[in-house]
Amino acid sequence: MGTRIEDVSGGTKANDILLRDFTSKFRSGYKRVFPLGDSGKRSGKGYLLPDYFCDYEKQIREMEIRPDDVWVASYPKTGTTWTQEMVWCIGNDLDFEAAKSTILPLRFPFIDFSCLFDFETQPAEALNSSFYDFLKNSVNFTINMKSPRYIKTHLPYELLPEQMKSKNTKIIYVARNPKDTCVSYFHHARLIEGYRGSFEDFIELFLQDSVSYSPFWDHLVSYWEHREEANVLFLKYEEMKRDLPSVIRKVSKFLGKEQLNDKDMKTLCDHLSFDSMKTNSSVNYEFAVDKTQNLGLSQGEQRFMRKGKVNSWKEEISPDVAERFDAWIENNLNGL
Ligand code: A3P
Repeated sequence: MGTRIEDVSGGTKANDILLRDFTSKFRSGYKRVFPLGDSGKRSGKGYLLPDYFCDYEKQIREMEIRPDDVWVASYPKTGTTWTQEMVWCIGNDLDFEAAKSTILPLRFPFIDFSCLFDFETQPAEALNSSFYDFLKNSVNFTINMKSPRYIKTHLPYELLPEQMKSKNTKIIYVARNPKDTCVSYFHHARLIEGYRGSFEDFIELFLQDSVSYSPFWDHLVSYWEHREEANVLFLKYEEMKRDLPSVIRKVSKFLGKEQLNDKDMKTLCDHLSFDSMKTNSSVNYEFAVDKTQNLGLSQGEQRFMRKGKVNSWKEEISPDVAERFDAWIENNLNGL
């Protein structure tokens, strides 16, 4: 389908915050990416992505898709890691030993990671890591994986590889309520992405569709429109919190796996519980947090596995701001 790409420059409040507080030696600036044939269909704003997206766009769009690929797609901070671990364990017949001994980014790489951070041209110490190849070029790393590939992406549906649409690749999308997503994204941005601004400014960015992968609603709708297709499964974080076994049953069926017996179901639910994932070094991203702290990129004091709750935004978003959010939600849901 192709894209039209515009530079993001200063001059609006959101862009000024973005360029002042959300760039670093690992991120030079941002673009607005307009999928062709789709602009105007939704907000018409174009997706905000770091500059490096341009270096990988063609390679991602043209990559070869394999029939047994499984993709987990999401807007950031909506429960991606939790969903990945669930999908990987079900897809690999509950091989907990392998799940614990190999970190998630190597089992289930984030293909567009290199669109977010420049680890390729940065000092060698940034790359001194057991997952050197992934950090250097997450797209090549993912393309060269052995089958069956499990792939994470935050890209919206329109920016996925072209072949996914004709090859009926399995895609599992996970969504979460935007207030919790925004609060989680703020802490993540400080912890891992080098964001130096205030919470108030981050909310401004979020509501102005000006953090990476926004607009939130365009992203969500881009997958929602495909939810009825046999190769697409649409999940919600809140549903996983409310009734994980029923989501596990849905995912097992979707992946063509036998349903788990009660004992295995309990073992998997225990493995996927927040407390267990929080202390599981294969999925809790402590290695990434340590790295960003060493590189001076981290301003945060929280951990990746932070709260894991529904509606914990109430502890951080004031009633006034919540009202702004509600107006934004209503405005965006209008007509859907
Ligand atoms: P909070 O910051 O609200 O705690 P992602 O993986 O897309 O980056 O999403 C991260 C969010 O999912 C974080 O939310 C994290 O704590 C939460 N999370 C991760 N594992 C979880 C689990 N097993 N149960 C519930 N929430 C989980």
